Amino acid sequence: MSAALALPAGLRAPAATQGTQTCTVSGTLPPWLRGALVRTAPARFEVGAWRAAHWFDALGMLFAFDLTDTGVTLRHRDVESTIARRLAAGRNDIATFATPTQRSWAQRLRSLVPETSDNTNVNIVPRGDGLVALTETPTQLLVDPRTLAVTGTHAWRDSLGPLLMTAHPVFDRTTKRAVDVCTQLVGRSYLAAVEHDDVGRTELARWYTPRVPYVHSFGVTKRSVVLVAHPFTVLPLAMLASNRGYVDHFRWDGGAPTRLVILDRRGGPTREVEAPTGFVFHVIDAFDDGDDLVLDALVYRDPSIVDALRTEALTRALPSLGATATRFRVRPGRSAAEVSPLAAEPFEFPIIDARTPGVSRRFVWGADPQSGASCVLRIDLQGSETARFADGVHTWGEPVFVARPGSTDEGDGVVLTVGTDGERATLAILDARTLLEVGRAVAPIPLPLGFHGGFVRAR
Ligand SMILES: [Fe+2]
Repeated sequence: MSAALALPAGLRAPAATQGTQTCTVSGTLPPWLRGALVRTAPARFEVGAWRAAHWFDALGMLFAFDLTDTGVTLRHRDVESTIARRLAAGRNDIATFATPTQRSWAQRLRSLVPETSDNTNVNIVPRGDGLVALTETPTQLLVDPRTLAVTGTHAWRDSLGPLLMTAHPVFDRTTKRAVDVCTQLVGRSYLAAVEHDDVGRTELARWYTPRVPYVHSFGVTKRSVVLVAHPFTVLPLAMLASNRGYVDHFRWDGGAPTRLVILDRRGGPTREVEAPTGFVFHVIDAFDDGDDLVLDALVYRDPSIVDALRTEALTRALPSLGATATRFRVRPGRSAAEVSPLAAEPFEFPIIDARTPGVSRRFVWGADPQSGASCVLRIDLQGSETARFADGVHTWGEPVFVARPGSTDEGDGVVLTVGTDGERATLAILDARTLLEVGRAVAPIPLPLGFHGGFVRAR
């Protein structure tokens, strides 16, 4: 039996697998801010003899801060997934991001394509009357908002079949439908832009490629869906019968450019333009500017950040998630994008006030959870001053923008961010424009740094 993992304070999870805690509130809870901040996070790095080899593989937990007239309550519950049950029973046979499975040769030959994980620890979004927790596989888990219990698997009523889907659906405020990107690795491989409601998906456009890039998020404009096809790609056949983690089949070709693949939402021809080589997890936003297409994204020099988030590296410290905010402008008829820096400060977990059209946007928010130097940032694209929220103690995660009801001005509202010092979790409510603290709610348990989530307003 190996020694228990010593994780940095920012990744420590509560001991209990579920519970409810009353928070201590200080400062002001804006009277219009009523509802739940719902998030998911990797939490359990060890189950019996199994150990997650990567941050992305730690088994997920869901949590919600409920903001009511009488105070703030924290509810949390480990994700009740098939992989959690399987690992608890000592079976490691479901493929994950970067942790090897232990399937026998017989098992591997019987099912050349392994079962994929339902460890939905990346994002949680509203769907229908409930919530759906997401990872980057075909499986999305339905979650009861009242109990955070998993109530089933979302079943698409369409003919597209089991495709990998991202954990970053983009809600189109015009069509009132979500846009997502699906990946098909079986047979002739492709990526497809789809649009969906709560029931079924419609394919908009398809891009065939023999080497499939790792796509974590993408851009959506009125006309297009934009993929960042960085040269971090996989030949799907290499994954057949493999026990290695998903990402460990990908290869980085630093001599190749990144391509922006522009899929026409109305099914017109696909366009590819070149951009400087770089690796991208998160697109900030995309928009049409006249005949130009603009994509804002956080760019790393290469995918070494993937290795920096392996568990062995994390036991030393949470690294800086310092990607460079970059603007790509694609002009009609040009084969290469024009590239310019968007902000001087590196960061991750970007968000915008999506009510504002990109062409006139001023603010981008983000965070860098780096151990000992964690901060939340507000970038001003039209000014030079960057606002910063940090205390040198807490590890702060993704900011979530909540607009003040009735307001239309960009950034009029708050950003919510969850931080931990390893012992206690804090929900900080910040003025979105200044990042000055408005109020906070402190829970008597830690919450691990997670990825994404959102605010569900009380009805
Ligand atoms: Fe993400």
